[in-house]
Amino acid sequence: MTNTIWGGRFTASPSEIMEEINASIDFDKRLWRHDILASKAHVAMLGETGIVTAKEAKEIARGLDQIMAEIEAGKFKFSRSLEDIHLNVESRLHELIGPVAGKLHTARSRNDQVATDFRLYVRDEIGAIAAALRALQLALAKKALQYAGAVMPGFTHLQTAQPITFGHHLLAYVEMLGRDRGRFTDAAKRLGECPLGAAALAGTSFPIDREATARALGFARASANSLDAVSDRDFALETLAAAAIAAMHLSRLAEEMVNWASPQWGFVRFSDKFTTGSSIMPQKRNPDAAELVRAKTGRIAGAFQALLMVMKGLPLAYAKDMQEDKEPVFDALDALKLGLAAMTGMVEDIEPDLRAMKRAASSGHATATDLADWLVLNLGLPFREAHQIAGRIVALAESRGSDLKKLPLSDLQSVEKRITEEVYSALDALGSVKSRTSYGGTAPANVKREAKRWIKRLEKDAETR
Ligand code: ARG
Repeated sequence: MTNTIWGGRFTASPSEIMEEINASIDFDKRLWRHDILASKAHVAMLGETGIVTAKEAKEIARGLDQIMAEIEAGKFKFSRSLEDIHLNVESRLHELIGPVAGKLHTARSRNDQVATDFRLYVRDEIGAIAAALRALQLALAKKALQYAGAVMPGFTHLQTAQPITFGHHLLAYVEMLGRDRGRFTDAAKRLGECPLGAAALAGTSFPIDREATARALGFARASANSLDAVSDRDFALETLAAAAIAAMHLSRLAEEMVNWASPQWGFVRFSDKFTTGSSIMPQKRNPDAAELVRAKTGRIAGAFQALLMVMKGLPLAYAKDMQEDKEPVFDALDALKLGLAAMTGMVEDIEPDLRAMKRAASSGHATATDLADWLVLNLGLPFREAHQIAGRIVALAESRGSDLKKLPLSDLQSVEKRITEEVYSALDALGSVKSRTSYGGTAPANVKREAKRWIKRLEKDAETR
């Protein structure tokens, strides 16, 4: 038997392999809700414009509602021979209401249908991801407030650089995730044009009201060019690009958490809820969740690349290649949501070891810059000269196997005789962070203020949602 919906000009049915390569129902059934909502908006418009009668429109809408209920209840039978979600729904509509079901597809095509469904799906996902990003930001900001004054070493090149606070470090990620959220909401704005009514590619001769369907589906407007409407997937690409960048941020935080939790660093402890044991080594507390968050960046960034390659050589308008747009998006956005949830849980539960952090911040000559700054401020030396002197003092400390701040004054004075006892306060890690009061700097007072500002803002964002 040929396809009952498009099989009019065929005599033989597709081969099994053809069915297998052609069918998308196994994955696009995810679009069922959006597909039915878009069909309801379409048929309501067909009724209002008199393209179908009010009675027909009502009958079709009732059938669609029933299908929605069947799917919700898990009672709907998806069929591969019906290719995709659109034909599955339409075919069931025929079973339910008879030939009038055939009027639903007036003045539309699966091309504008799928472009609409997919936009609706991605728009919902963006909403969920933005909320998840906000939740992670809030968890980070709360920890940051709690540990605004907790001294730890800051690194560049993963070498001890200068003391910072744990709170400051966490707030760096709050900033990054804030930009991620911005990228997602920007993508949602550009996505807000409704393709429905573009039909196959050229528009339609029926007197449709595209603004009405656009409005009904919550789009800002109808897309202005029918070819563009059915043939671009830039909204999905843009969302995947935002996802890839967000995943990269999560991955960096995950990487840091893995380092911090290693016994060699001993900066943090994860809760049992986000740790696994080893089947052979009883002592282990493995940060698997963080590692998996880090690893998921691969498939998320890969999804962007995969879809970009699908799209890059396609002539206008629709080509079946574009059916391959969905799986990477589904997979990547699922992975990102899971990663965000896991990361939020980890952050909420993480416990820093303040003494280990402080100890590390006080070693590795982390306050060598403070020494140079002290020489500039108190002896009026040019910074370059002060840097030289501080460098010689660090070398001396190293040769003595001592930390900078434990060197006796006589040793300091053997390099620069004008150094006085006061220098020691500059060599203290806490004193160092307290002095970094420049805008955006790590001083605990700054961190506290910024953390509070973020918490207030993030809690307000939740209300407006
Ligand atoms: N399942 C198809 C997709 O995802 C729907 C559109 C089919 N359009 C067509 N002209 N065959 O792209």
